[in-house]
Amino acid sequence: MREGFVPNAATCIALEVDKDPLAVEELLELCADAALDGLSLVAVATDTGEVAATVFSKLQEKPTPGSTEKTFVEIFNEERCKRPSTKAMMDFIVDRDAKCNYFDRYDVDCFCEIMFLGTKPEHRQKGLAKLLLKTSVDVAKKFKEGPFAPLTIADLGPEYAFMKPRKPITKPPQLCSALWSSVATKKCGDSLGFTALEVFSYDDLIYNGRPCSDRLGPGVTCEGAALKI
Ligand SMILES: CC(C)(COP(=O)(O)OP(=O)(O)OC[C@H]1O[C@@H](n2cnc3c(N)ncnc32)[C@H](O)[C@@H]1OP(=O)(O)O)[C@@H](O)C(=O)NCCC(=O)NCCS
Repeated sequence: MREGFVPNAATCIALEVDKDPLAVEELLELCADAALDGLSLVAVATDTGEVAATVFSKLQEKPTPGSTEKTFVEIFNEERCKRPSTKAMMDFIVDRDAKCNYFDRYDVDCFCEIMFLGTKPEHRQKGLAKLLLKTSVDVAKKFKEGPFAPLTIADLGPEYAFMKPRKPITKPPQLCSALWSSVATKKCGDSLGFTALEVFSYDDLIYNGRPCSDRLGPGVTCEGAALKI
């Protein structure tokens, strides 16, 4: 994540996560929490054992009537984010997800949000992102047999020992969703059969007093996409 995702991901650059090491740590905490759903993946180089690429999948359950109506990312933002960049990133995800409106659009009560796909620069363009995305969809489909890679807080190591256990989600996802923010992931999404639902321009996003397109260049977009599984 530190080497493969944060320095080059459009949303991290747009919201200056890449400039704030404490914001990066908050983002990693979100990834650690998402990994507890047991659907996240790493690609490991077999010769060196080095992690070459990562992707995190978070199950999102439809809030039940009368509940707080807050999503995992909203709760994470309120309870654990302190840095302006990470807060802006959480708002960005929540706002885009709300516009895509996966629950009502597809009439589902649980979906798997695929997030933070990153390949280290030296391992790029070898098909790892596509392989991880395809495998993410496959393991989401198999969730009814249980999590693909069950994890506990203890498995995350001492750095995350402070995290509180949460009630595991047992509902199988009926949809995979993603926010594609690079040409490569849009290509992968198309080839895996994802439907592009909404296109968001970074020109309209203001952070730290400037349009994010100032940091990314003009015309960069992020696309909300989904695949029924
Ligand atoms: C986006 C990213 C994950 C792609 O990883 P990767 O392992 O190099 O991707 P793959 O090798 O699986 O390539 C997937 C497809 O994208 C294409 N592609 C890869 N890099 C590309 C680039 N820079 N420009 C255009 N197309 C590209 C590949 O040719 C392939 O297309 P094909 O299936 O038609 O052959 C990687 O560049 C990265 O980590 N970027 C920074 C973080 C980021 O932006 N993550 C995405 C957030 S949604």
